[in-house]
Amino acid sequence: MTDTYAVFGNPIAHSKSPRIHAEFARQTGQDMRYAALLAPLEGFTETVLAFRAGGGRGANVTVPFKEAAWALCARRSERAELAGAVNTLKFEGEEIYGDNTDGAGLVRDLTANLGVPLAGRRILLMGAGGAARGVVGPLLEQGPRALFIVNRTADKATTLAEAFAGQGVVVAGGGYDAVRGAYDVVINATAASLAGELPTLPDQVFAPDALAYDMMYGRDTPFLTFALAQGARAADGLGMLVEQAAEAFFLWRGVRPLTAPVIALLRAA
Ligand code: ATR
Repeated sequence: MTDTYAVFGNPIAHSKSPRIHAEFARQTGQDMRYAALLAPLEGFTETVLAFRAGGGRGANVTVPFKEAAWALCARRSERAELAGAVNTLKFEGEEIYGDNTDGAGLVRDLTANLGVPLAGRRILLMGAGGAARGVVGPLLEQGPRALFIVNRTADKATTLAEAFAGQGVVVAGGGYDAVRGAYDVVINATAASLAGELPTLPDQVFAPDALAYDMMYGRDTPFLTFALAQGARAADGLGMLVEQAAEAFFLWRGVRPLTAPVIALLRAA
């Protein structure tokens, strides 16, 4: 019988995940199906449990259910624990196991696909919501020289930074007016691009050869437009999307798919 998987979100119609996983399955010869399913805002848990009861083997979870997915799990990976959010569920008999592959996906896109090493570099992370929280641990594991978390609501950045204090590198947080110096990698994990807005960054925020990374996809976000005008390299979040999917696929199927052809395919579409 064909194994079934799904991504749950609200909204979900425009999700690229079914396309990505279909490509992975084709490439690796895995017999599986993957659908995008809308969960009602007040009915996430019921929807997931019904999917499992119908034979589902695992699921991805996207906005706004990653915290609810975390709560649903009996067991979680350490990185999901740190993130306080789950984007990948694996159904193991009666037990639900949760992982968070977002941070690993970001790190892999930065280091392997874009060729930007993070060890010893200065990283500026914009945002202190769920998206930002999910990537702090994996970024710190790379051993950056500094990680500064900046957010419109400064307190939230400080609190997030404090949660990761004592992990071996400088972590600090504050509001946009607290940004000083230049950064090698500037990551936008805010929802500002969705609203066509750009948090105010100082003109000299990008070090020479800096990379600006928007976790949203689409290359003309206000943040990337600003970064290009400042002479930085710019990358959107399409690679991260494919890489986090590859990590989930590996957890489910034990096979690591090739990501570069899938990124190229989506880019061309
Ligand atoms: P997500 O799960 O996508 O991170 P979230 O938890 O609602 O969603 O967090 C949204 C993030 O985007 C927050 O860091 C938010 O800043 P505040 O904490 O100050 O609200 C940030 N954000 C949203 N719109 C923004 C804007 N127009 N300018 C700057 N930051 C914005």
